[in-house]
Amino acid sequence: MKALVLSGGRGTRLRPITHTSAKQLVPVANKPILFYAIEAIRDAGITDIGIVVGDTQAEIRRACGNGDDWGCKITYLPQEAPLGLAHAVKISEEFMAGEPFVMYLGDNLVKDGIAGLVDEYRAGGYNAQILLAHVPRPKDFGVAELDAATGRVIRLEEKPAEPKTDLALVGVYMFDRNIFEAVNAIKPSARGELEITDAIQYLIDHDYNVHSHVIDGWWKDTGRLEDMLEANRIVLDGLLRKIDGEVDAASSIHGKVRIGKGSRVVNSVIRGPAIIGDNCVIENAYVGPFTSIYYNCVVRGSEIEHSIVLEVVR
Ligand code: DAU
Repeated sequence: MKALVLSGGRGTRLRPITHTSAKQLVPVANKPILFYAIEAIRDAGITDIGIVVGDTQAEIRRACGNGDDWGCKITYLPQEAPLGLAHAVKISEEFMAGEPFVMYLGDNLVKDGIAGLVDEYRAGGYNAQILLAHVPRPKDFGVAELDAATGRVIRLEEKPAEPKTDLALVGVYMFDRNIFEAVNAIKPSARGELEITDAIQYLIDHDYNVHSHVIDGWWKDTGRLEDMLEANRIVLDGLLRKIDGEVDAASSIHGKVRIGKGSRVVNSVIRGPAIIGDNCVIENAYVGPFTSIYYNCVVRGSEIEHSIVLEVVR
């Protein structure tokens, strides 16, 4: 089995923070979101990964390299423009070489990983498996309608104005080779994209076996700023305390706090959950709960909480 990670697109919804960099590389609890996806795939026993890249490919390649850091082999699949999730599948056909694969949207975070779900897909012999989750704002997602009697998926709609259910499609999908028949048959949607929801609908309409699984652990699409902060909050909450940097006698550290090597905390208060990367200086400052401060940052004479602070890119 292989994996396809989608890291193309333009990230316009996260401007200005991702104006010059890939939204998939924004750190959540000081780790780029994309790395959580790669780890989840590796932990499911899949090591052959294709990453779809677009305008921001130089940064993605620099961050992920050839996959050695994870014991994986990464192949980059350039997409000429963000023409849709099904278009990204289309350009991966040669890379997949007939094998089934997991498709993972590079801006999604799934708390419990995907190992159990991949096992379920393998054991079930399905043509496709989709993950669903109950959400408060279904109109922001692909939405599934299930048959009341059998529980099988009967209809998928991409960001409907009037959703028929609150069951959103999570950005992790499993497919066998038949998905290529579907992505080659469908036409672009009204917004000009080849939609993966239309491709899966094609499979359903042509009697392929599409299995759905409603997940109960948390999942986040970090496409919008508030979702990214929410993901940061949830991941930080699971942190263990570890202080590697120096903390002077005038400072106090409360709760689940991580401070990286070479960092200095001077006359400051840090209240966890919070993470501070390596080589930072926190001076005459208050760092409050749910804050991630990346590597090489200086916070001086300031109060900050519930935030993600990025390294300055020169
Ligand atoms: O997060 C789950 C949702 O993801 C699903 O519920 C929707 O059905 C699905 O369409 C998708 O919606 P989004 O609007 O969140 O997709 P977005 O355009 O943000 O793209 C998701 C990821 O895929 C993102 O990392 C960028 C990448 N991408 C996107 C497109 C359109 C590509 O690599 N190539 C593309 O052509």
